[in-house]
Amino acid sequence: MRIIPIASGKGGVGKSLVAANLAVALAQAGQRVVLTDLDLGASNLHLVLGFHSPAKGIGTFLHNTKSDFTQVISNTNIRGLRFIPGDQEMPGMANLKSFQRNALVRRLLALASDTDILILDLGAGTHQSILDFFLLSGQGIVVSSPAVTATLNAYVFLKNTVFRLMYTIFAKGTEAFNFLERARRDSSEKRHLYIPQMLKEIANVDPESHRKFAEATAHFHPRLIMNMIEDPKDADVAMKIRLSCEEYLDIKVEHLGVMYRDGIQDTALSSRLPVVLYKPQSVIAQAIYRITDKILESPEEAFTLTKEMIDDSFQEASLEAEIDFENKMEYVEELLHTGALTQGDLLETVKSQQLEITKLKKENNFLKHKLTQAVSKGFKV
Ligand SMILES: Nc1ncnc2c1ncn2[C@@H]1O[C@H](COP(=O)(O)OP(=O)(O)OP(=O)(O)O)[C@@H](O)[C@H]1O
Ligand SMILES: [Mg+2]
Repeated sequence: MRIIPIASGKGGVGKSLVAANLAVALAQAGQRVVLTDLDLGASNLHLVLGFHSPAKGIGTFLHNTKSDFTQVISNTNIRGLRFIPGDQEMPGMANLKSFQRNALVRRLLALASDTDILILDLGAGTHQSILDFFLLSGQGIVVSSPAVTATLNAYVFLKNTVFRLMYTIFAKGTEAFNFLERARRDSSEKRHLYIPQMLKEIANVDPESHRKFAEATAHFHPRLIMNMIEDPKDADVAMKIRLSCEEYLDIKVEHLGVMYRDGIQDTALSSRLPVVLYKPQSVIAQAIYRITDKILESPEEAFTLTKEMIDDSFQEASLEAEIDFENKMEYVEELLHTGALTQGDLLETVKSQQLEITKLKKENNFLKHKLTQAVSKGFKV
């Protein structure tokens, strides 16, 4: 069973949209899929999937971890797709006890007997439970938008996963574990934790633990989706995350693709349908299908990602961003020709974009002000 956890760091960047639509597209491709809402405390995946507020879900199970797990799995009207919703009894991630998390993980893994793909829609943030669910796979998806805050949060999320991986691999009492604890205590005020340097030092004091960690990270290559882009150049923002991950975290990330911000998503949502069902020909649905193909074409078992494979994935994403942009523009022209879109609608769009630009300019000025303040306090840029 392929496990695909979907995380982000920042909230509201499109995790649930990606999770629901990927699940539908993979089921349409003949896979047996289970889609799970693990955004504990803020579950809303049922809305994206067009489900009514569910009575039984993960919360019901967590309430009594001895209960029958199958009662929380619902069939959907899409062949091959089953759904585990959140429900009213859903606790927050922070409230999840470790016995609850372990029971849930055991039940999810047991789905392997009749499931090809398990998709986990995770909550925002870097809570330990989220990191653990993300680490159930070596190829989890991180969704980001091109906004600086979103890319920064995506990077911080990945940094936290690397630390969590260290903690799960370095056994208590080993030199590596003690080193990590000391570094964590020191870091609070003295220095930032620079992972490549830490790993070098760990290799010296505890080569065995270091070897185990290197083995695990060799197969750990999260995949990025750059969502809500507006311009082909936004695809390249992912490159910043890639380079920071290589330089500071010693991990490789792959580019799974881009998705444009598309007004059709709002209409799909209010029609209570995933966009791949609402409008399969739309640019956003096509982007989902492209990502689906890439997932199905990639090896299921742990594999080592080469530099060429990473470069290819980034080049491909940039090209796709260009092609989608042209399609989007052609679509606008078609709509204008057929009269489905009026000059007035276009004017409204331009106005709302201008409003957004003004807002961004304000944010920009605020950040510049903060930067000037920091520089005056001796911070080097
Ligand atoms: N490419 C897109 N084009 C247009 N709207 C989008 C796009 N991606 C996401 N949205 C919209 O943005 C909002 C947030 O998306 P979604 O709920 O999927 O994000 P999320 O990361 O799951 O959020 P949360 O962290 O709150 O769970 C939704 O209203 C969704 O319809
Ligand atoms: Mg969500």
